[in-house]
Amino acid sequence: MFQAIVKQLDPLPSKSKLIIFGGGFSGQKIASLGRHLGIKVLCSRRHENSKGADFIFNTDKEVSKEIFEGATHVLSCIPPLPNGEDPVLNKLKTQLLNSKNLKWVGYLSTTGVYGDTKGEWVNENTSPNPQQKRSVRRFFCEQKWLATKLPVQILRLPGIYGPGRSAFESLFAGTTKMVDKPGQVFSRVHVDDIAGAVFFLINLYSQGKNPSIVNVADNLPTNNLEVIAFAAKLAQKSLPATIPFEIAKETMSSMALSFWKENRKVDNKLLCKTLGYSLIYPDFKSGLKNCFSKLNMNY
Ligand SMILES: NC(=O)c1ccc[n+]([C@@H]2O[C@H](COP(=O)([O-])OP(=O)(O)OC[C@H]3O[C@@H](n4cnc5c(N)ncnc54)[C@H](OP(=O)(O)O)[C@@H]3O)[C@@H](O)[C@H]2O)c1
Repeated sequence: MFQAIVKQLDPLPSKSKLIIFGGGFSGQKIASLGRHLGIKVLCSRRHENSKGADFIFNTDKEVSKEIFEGATHVLSCIPPLPNGEDPVLNKLKTQLLNSKNLKWVGYLSTTGVYGDTKGEWVNENTSPNPQQKRSVRRFFCEQKWLATKLPVQILRLPGIYGPGRSAFESLFAGTTKMVDKPGQVFSRVHVDDIAGAVFFLINLYSQGKNPSIVNVADNLPTNNLEVIAFAAKLAQKSLPATIPFEIAKETMSSMALSFWKENRKVDNKLLCKTLGYSLIYPDFKSGLKNCFSKLNMNY
């Protein structure tokens, strides 16, 4: 996968140093691509024993000054705190503002800030209309990052999937729910394309192509049933019966229910047409084939 991404990237200066706050699912993938590209990457987690923890960052621990020494790029993959504050800005804004070598500061946000559009497309010019409390907090954090006047770029992401986090996990666990809500679609993005887009955008930013907000989504918003059916076909698993949404919602968690309340299609033309990023997994079919091929591997 890295080869496909690297082909479309100009090399970063060898002295580049990227600090990633929040080395979870996306953060780890971005870190490994950065290292593959030959740059220094340091990734935070909250606990010492977590995989890939180069340093610890959480709300009650200071980050040593050395972490920031020589930093050229910073990316936050950490969601807002329950009180709406951004954990990184809360603790480290002054250190960031004092880091004179910073060329790019990325923030992974969500397309939830657009709210419900009853299935209509949203692009970066669509006025945010966050309706869930967590999306209101997210929009607030976006604004805080932009207000720093650092070289900030916000990447708005829909549902993230990839090896280890896809329709296959619930299929194999026997927990798949075939919720049927006609007309409902979800946008999504494969984690490899988040990593690819990060470095693609970093490169363009240095050339003055620096939109402050970019949607990172695949080409094909799709109904969930189609996605599950395709995964089941690949895995040769039978599908459970469909459940009408009106019945399924009675037993859904409030978090799950909040996703089903919003229906929108995320437009990626800015990233893929105007800026020219070529998706590695343009739709759920190519992405799920990749996830399926990794099912028995350690990732
Ligand atoms: N998952 C999705 O479908 C989705 C969709 C759109 C946007 N997003 C957003 O995109 C970003 C990346 O998503 P992801 O799924 O890759 O995230 P993830 O796997 O949940 O990782 C989040 C990272 O943030 C760290 N973190 C969380 N709260 C923290 C806090 N208060 N202080 C310090 N670190 C904290 C976690 O630390 P540990 O490593 O110690 O756990 C983890 O490294 C997140 O902001 C997420 O909310 C996610």
